[in-house]
Amino acid sequence: MEKEYSELVKWSDNLSCGIKLLDDQHKGLVALVNEMFNHVTSDETQEHEYFNKVIQEAIKYVKIHFATEEKLMLAAKIPGYIRHKKAHGRFILTVLDNVYDYKIGKRFNLYKFTKFLKDWILSHIALMDKQDFEPIKNTTRAKNSRKFTFSGLQKHLFSLSL
Ligand SMILES: [Fe+2]
Repeated sequence: MEKEYSELVKWSDNLSCGIKLLDDQHKGLVALVNEMFNHVTSDETQEHEYFNKVIQEAIKYVKIHFATEEKLMLAAKIPGYIRHKKAHGRFILTVLDNVYDYKIGKRFNLYKFTKFLKDWILSHIALMDKQDFEPIKNTTRAKNSRKFTFSGLQKHLFSLSL
């Protein structure tokens, strides 16, 4: 019997920041966390192998999303740009630190890593993104922002299963 797909995070309208472009990308991040969660097996070797396969693509995915938010903040002259960009930078550094630790032999636990991603992403989306993008939510300008989807990258990332 095939393993049932479970969701560690469920997208809800509470997470919406009112800008379709960003909401779509945030849904992609939620899907990414859920995809990782579904590869938790308690077999360290198997989990590490999966992690090595997907982590670089996942980082690329997150960086593209952060750049989209930062460009939008600059274009719309939203206050708090530096603070927000710093929060993104700290997150990327923490992820890279984790990757380095695992590379040099720190015990790997995919559930712990996935839980860290979930907690950070959810609190960032629900607090900082919501608050900072409030001034331009549901505006024509935001609605007409360049359409960007992760679909290609997402499909590729999700096809990399063990
Ligand atoms: Fe953000």
